[in-house]
Amino acid sequence: MEHIEVNVKHVFGHVSKNEIDALLPEVLDAKHHLLKGDAAGNDFLGWVNLPEEIDADMLARLKADVARLAGKSRLMVVIGIGGSYLGARMVIEALQSEFAAMQRGKAPYIVYAGHTLGEDYYSQLLSLLEHEDYSVAVISKSGTTTEPAVAFRIVKAHLEHKYGRDEASKRIVAITDARRGALHEIAVQEGYPMYVIPDNVGGRFSVLTPVGLLPIAMAGFDIDKLLAGARDMRKLCIADDTLEGNPALMYAAVRNALYRKGKKVEMLVSCLPNLRYLAEWWKQLYGESEGKDGKGLLPHSLSITTDLHSMGQYVQDGERLMMETMLRVRRPNTTVDVPRDEQNLDGINYLCGKSLTEINDCAAEGTIEAHVSGGVPVVELVVGSVDEYTLGQLIYFFEFACGISGYTLGVNPFDQPGVEAYKKNMFRLLGKPGF
Ligand code: PA5
Repeated sequence: MEHIEVNVKHVFGHVSKNEIDALLPEVLDAKHHLLKGDAAGNDFLGWVNLPEEIDADMLARLKADVARLAGKSRLMVVIGIGGSYLGARMVIEALQSEFAAMQRGKAPYIVYAGHTLGEDYYSQLLSLLEHEDYSVAVISKSGTTTEPAVAFRIVKAHLEHKYGRDEASKRIVAITDARRGALHEIAVQEGYPMYVIPDNVGGRFSVLTPVGLLPIAMAGFDIDKLLAGARDMRKLCIADDTLEGNPALMYAAVRNALYRKGKKVEMLVSCLPNLRYLAEWWKQLYGESEGKDGKGLLPHSLSITTDLHSMGQYVQDGERLMMETMLRVRRPNTTVDVPRDEQNLDGINYLCGKSLTEINDCAAEGTIEAHVSGGVPVVELVVGSVDEYTLGQLIYFFEFACGISGYTLGVNPFDQPGVEAYKKNMFRLLGKPGF
């Protein structure tokens, strides 16, 4: 298996190798508590063994439901917010063509709802749904989150009007708690196929449950390979107790070392546009896990070279708040060369014969050099290529490192009490009974 490499040589001006090595006992202690399940948040550690323990019967049922729905749908509306949609979106956007909406391949195209309350968004979605055969995956662990509940009410009414209540109930899949919540009750009453989000898996760690697997499979991607990547990464993360051999230990150690040296922001920088939702998923994972008790690196993201033309100035010369984690991909899945032009009016014939990946790699190298000389430490994460297996590895790597990093920081990485504050205010303003 091709591993994820964590290269820390570009942080040495800010933190020394000895200082990173000195964190080994702390990250190992965190790993020990994570695996033993004897520290804060230990009722939410179901994700640790998920790739090994996934239920084969559930997977077979999920694939059968996907085949049935894909056979009669050009679109699937995935309704969910936060951990109930970002994981699926990350994988789908990483793997599908950037132009999938226009191309319409063999698998249904995924559209999203429940992650916003934008009124125009919903009227545009309803216009689209008028003209397309579609099905719906409604995803909410609590089954009571307002945004997806509102979206589901709107989409369900449209679906029932379009196909009739009986057929509509065959086009909806609910992914929710095994016993509780309004969504669970609706699904039971209407007879929707239902999948369970395990009690001990929090939203941001749930991409390898039906929450992520069903939409990803619906979009035509190989969930077995995704799980295989996660399984192999799990084995490595559990077996290896060295910083050099275990990428999760190294990543957790270096980001804590830099945080202790005063860095306040971590920018996840990707060199490919189709990884932008990986950054969105990562932001939730790290922001919700570590941003508490007045602590934690603020997760931010850049896509290069696009954002070098907007945020590049700040990163180079602005306040020295940040560290950078650059996600680099060794191989593209396809190649495009720069063609020769006899007139060379644009002056770029010197690039002829180079692939865009070679040019992009030089942009990345140049960016690292510039940012390091501008006082920004850079951690490189290097992966082979963007495919299901690698994404499975990345998912488990980031999750495992997050658990270790959060414990090393001294917080409970598995709760999110701060998310409730806006909800209470919103309910009061909306006049919800009891608020
Ligand atoms: O990570 C989390 O717990 C949150 O982001 C939730 O996933 C999000 O609030 C959605 O919650 P639910 O799945 O209960 O609708």
